Amino acid sequence: MNMAALNTAGLDPLETASIDELRQHQLERLRWSLSHAYRNVPLYRRRFDEQGVHPEDVRSLQDLAKFPFTTKADLRDNYPYGMFAVPMHEVVRVHASSGTTGKPTVVGYTQNDIDTWANVVARSIRAAGGRKGDKVHVAYGYGLFTGGLGAHYGAERLGCTVIPMSGGQTEKQVQLIRDLRPDIIMVTPSYMLNLADEMERQGLSAEQLSLRLGIFGAEPWTDELRRSIEQRLGITALDIYGLSEIMGPGVAMECAESKDGPTIWEDHFYPEIIDPVTGAVLPDGQMGELVFTSLSKEALPMIRYRTRDLTRLLPGTARPMRRMDKITGRSDDMLIVRGVNLFPTQVEEQVLKIKQFSECYEIHLYRNGNLDSVDIHVELRPECQHADEPRRTALIAELSRHIKTHIGLSTRVLLQPPGSLKRSEGKACHVYDNRRAG
Ligand code: DLL
Repeated sequence: MNMAALNTAGLDPLETASIDELRQHQLERLRWSLSHAYRNVPLYRRRFDEQGVHPEDVRSLQDLAKFPFTTKADLRDNYPYGMFAVPMHEVVRVHASSGTTGKPTVVGYTQNDIDTWANVVARSIRAAGGRKGDKVHVAYGYGLFTGGLGAHYGAERLGCTVIPMSGGQTEKQVQLIRDLRPDIIMVTPSYMLNLADEMERQGLSAEQLSLRLGIFGAEPWTDELRRSIEQRLGITALDIYGLSEIMGPGVAMECAESKDGPTIWEDHFYPEIIDPVTGAVLPDGQMGELVFTSLSKEALPMIRYRTRDLTRLLPGTARPMRRMDKITGRSDDMLIVRGVNLFPTQVEEQVLKIKQFSECYEIHLYRNGNLDSVDIHVELRPECQHADEPRRTALIAELSRHIKTHIGLSTRVLLQPPGSLKRSEGKACHVYDNRRAG
């Protein structure tokens, strides 16, 4: 799509195509992507041959289920460029995502890939209500992380004025938001909270800000946090999803008119939900692990890439393309505590039900002998910090009770002084697992 190809409603024709047209288009692109991978990446050729599948045998989208999965380990084992499908001189950009351990994952883009990416991010900002002429403050980190540059190129493609702030320098960020008067901010939700605290510190109220829209992603966040951000900043907060291996931000975007979970840009990224244990494809509506196959990517085609993100596919609403539910967590972020599965977002939901607590929270895990214990650290909002001792005790008991009832886990809740919990400058870290140390 170039912007001239936008139809009269301002949407890419494929955004409003019928389901039949979309599926036909996906099937054609799928055949291309599978054979591109087979012809140009030794790993795919070997795996497809071992599994006895060939791109030319694909007759329907369901045939994709016969193909093998790809994982982050495959990218690591072929570090840095072993899974690239084009000669290096056609690769105009690389990004990398730092894993918690070992080597980063390196991803590459041809000029066409960069173009596609800019187009899907432009489409995303547009779906969120952004328009040509809007000023966009980008506070996702610039650099190897895909957030900053991904947002940047997309906003430019839509015809916006970009303020390429990157992450960090919180005080200066707020000064620029005040003075340059952006309409839209693109940032992780946890760093937005940090910025909101700084705005309060500087005595700036929501009415004094020019912002009307926030495009938040790169980490799991709850509807409770959405409400809190919207209320504090007087903006609309929408969810953008993506991952480096598949492209970066803009794989899926929540539409302003329905605000009901990100619409997957299925004309470029074909989604499946699988049972994370058996690998079987699950029907739409069922929770499982999200798997993506890239349909147009040249430099790094990804066939059935296991994202580890847990969600479900939902029917299209604002667009014919399917939506994904909010990510509850990643299978590799799931904590198992005394046999109970725990995701940080479940704790976030409970913390934010109590309006006296700030949005910051930490989960600390310990092992005492054979028994795991969980401490939840929370803070009072600055305006509630003068609560007396009985009130504090009651709030602590209330959170502990909510967690027990909704998650099934006994925890110790500890109240920390306002502003003392670590603030995020990008993706938040909520979990401190001390169990292995002991
Ligand atoms: O986080 C790309 C991105 C940048 C997305 C800016 C949105 C905005 P990675 O660093 O490779 O890429 O991390 C990808 O982050 O598999 C999810 O676990 C998580 N994630 C990304 N967006 C969301 C979201 C970028 N909206 C990983 N909700 C993904 C929940 C998200 N989790």
